[in-house]
Amino acid sequence: MARLRPKPDRFPSTEDLHHSRIEGVNVIRVSLSPDGKRVPESHALDPEARATWAPCSRPVLPLSLTWQRTGPSRWELSFPIPPSARCLGLGERYGGINLRGRVHTLLTTDNSRHSESVDSLYKSIPILLVEQGRRSFGLFVDSPAPQRWDVDRARLGRVTVELLSRRGFALYLVGAAALPNLVKAFTHLTGRSALPPRWSLGHHQSRWSYPSEKTVRSIAAELRRRRLPCDTIVLDIDYMDRFRVFTISKRRFPHFGRMVKNLRADGFRVVTIVDPGVAKSEQDPTFRQGKRRDLLCRTSAGKLFVDEVWPGPSCFPDFLRPEARAFWGERLKILLSRGVAGIWNDMNEPSLFRHRKVLASDAHALPPDDEQLFVQQTDEGPVGHLEVRNLYGHAMNRATWEALQEQRPDQRPFVLSRSGYAGMQRFGAVWLGDNRSWFEHLRMSIPMLLNLGLSGMPFAGVDVGGFGEDADAELLARWYQVGIFYPFFRNHCVKNATAQEPWVFGSDTEACIRRQLEKRYQLIPYLETLFAEHRESGAPIMRPLVWHYPDDSTAAQIDDQFLFGRDILVAPILARGQEWRPVYLPAGLWHPFDGGRALRGPGYQAIAWPLDRVPALVRDGAILPLAGPVQHTGELASADIVFRVFGARARGHYWQDDGATFAYQRGVFNDWQLTFARGRFTAKASHLGYRPLRRRYFYETEGARRRARLK
Ligand code: GLC
Repeated sequence: MARLRPKPDRFPSTEDLHHSRIEGVNVIRVSLSPDGKRVPESHALDPEARATWAPCSRPVLPLSLTWQRTGPSRWELSFPIPPSARCLGLGERYGGINLRGRVHTLLTTDNSRHSESVDSLYKSIPILLVEQGRRSFGLFVDSPAPQRWDVDRARLGRVTVELLSRRGFALYLVGAAALPNLVKAFTHLTGRSALPPRWSLGHHQSRWSYPSEKTVRSIAAELRRRRLPCDTIVLDIDYMDRFRVFTISKRRFPHFGRMVKNLRADGFRVVTIVDPGVAKSEQDPTFRQGKRRDLLCRTSAGKLFVDEVWPGPSCFPDFLRPEARAFWGERLKILLSRGVAGIWNDMNEPSLFRHRKVLASDAHALPPDDEQLFVQQTDEGPVGHLEVRNLYGHAMNRATWEALQEQRPDQRPFVLSRSGYAGMQRFGAVWLGDNRSWFEHLRMSIPMLLNLGLSGMPFAGVDVGGFGEDADAELLARWYQVGIFYPFFRNHCVKNATAQEPWVFGSDTEACIRRQLEKRYQLIPYLETLFAEHRESGAPIMRPLVWHYPDDSTAAQIDDQFLFGRDILVAPILARGQEWRPVYLPAGLWHPFDGGRALRGPGYQAIAWPLDRVPALVRDGAILPLAGPVQHTGELASADIVFRVFGARARGHYWQDDGATFAYQRGVFNDWQLTFARGRFTAKASHLGYRPLRRRYFYETEGARRRARLK
């Protein structure tokens, strides 16, 4: 524990300290602002977060932090970290789970070259978790301005954060506590994901693009004919007329509404892409209205800001303004009224083809407001874009989420986004942008999604099969073996690459993928239970091993395996040509998911995973609620539920609700505690509020299935 040591300011600033206990964890908030100015409203904090802040003048911090305003638009924070500590979080980072040893820039960027040499991607979540067992701590810097986190690059045991802002901000010191408690407190502050609509947990089939009704119908028909379970067909930019947002090509989609309806009858939902760039054309109603109501971003000289995206010269709504968010919501009716089930927000960093790089890598000050591309309107007045850039996609997601909630109050929204800021879990799901069909990117998806989960975002995935370049049979099959464990599970692929629908590489590969898809659908009751747990505790769905095994120093290093909830250890093959891999098993007995002899940890075991196996093991002592087999989630509500028991004594948890509405928030759900001991299975309700469809329940031990009674 260290005392607070602010350095003398070179530039005047004021500070204001408060503390609170949130979810049993100490949280100290330091509000910093240029002398006398107010700290701007936060877009990260959950308006429903309950915290009582008490003033504190001499706080005891979990780390020895200094802060300083070092220029008119520059702040510097610095703190030492112990030699053995691992640094996690920071949202979407390309690389292994331990972020130590590198600089991480937080400035939302559309960059499709995901490699070790890029240090900023689409999302910005400024929370770093310094993991050191039960004395871990977190630092959350709640500012949407550009930030550069030097996480001990020089190996001198120090983290330095450079923040480029003329405005004030709040920072939060969380801890010391164990990692799950830090995430619990952080997600209390920034909010937790709502329960997703059940259909969105199924398999999504996407391509840039399915350019016509005919293609869409044939893809859907093919999936059903081949009995490849799927819930969603995704429409990329070619459903639009000349890529103009809120248009539908009459030529290629002459009966859009009817198509959506027919697909729905066959158990499919349609999700459409929406980009923020509005074509600058007087013929375009979104542009005309946006301009007339003055909701599009302007330069500091008062001219409309114009850049290039898919539709050519485009303008950009200022989503920080409530009127612009409401306007966007009205425009969304064009899609929602035609039965579109969910909205995919893309290019919302925002991506600007004429300004691929918005700030020089070596900038140590913000350019003046009139050189920040455009200005945005905040409650304190106009602000240069760069200062709030990290909020652009976040605010667009909020606009979309709120519109869906308002227009369909009885349905859980589904919003998918590429960009976002801390707290984005309140507004839907994310994927990690334009990866490639490389084993390296399959491998990297694991630590990247783990860090995102630790940063508060549970509902995430990457393009299965890889977006750019050509997939092949082996890569695709291997990717599905991992993809069935991504909370958001979508196959998506670029235009000019080999197609990668599950059947493209022939019947052997298709059969392997079919098996994986069937397993995904089996796992949906377990996955829904995990989402219900996330609402309670903020726990991510995909968890690093250290989450449940904090005292196991080997587990702490591992980021090519993960836990799917507490009970399933996923340890897939992540390189070409390999048939087996060393799998690290934490202490205890582990049962291969597909059956076979149990293996004992702690220690490494060589395990072979043929392409048709599920590369996962289940913890002895677990009971998994499983369902199926089904072709889409519409069939799940009446499908049999099987509680599969692993071991002689076991416990489990099963959550059940309608999977579609917000009724669960009013207690319309059931929650069962499952136990198996001395040959007896019991399911005891800890909450009963929902009346499910008639269905059968079984429990299964060592291959024998018996009827289960739920009390
Ligand atoms: C962006 C998206 C990608 C999409 C493409 C065309 O690159 O990341 O998923 O397919 O734009 O809309």
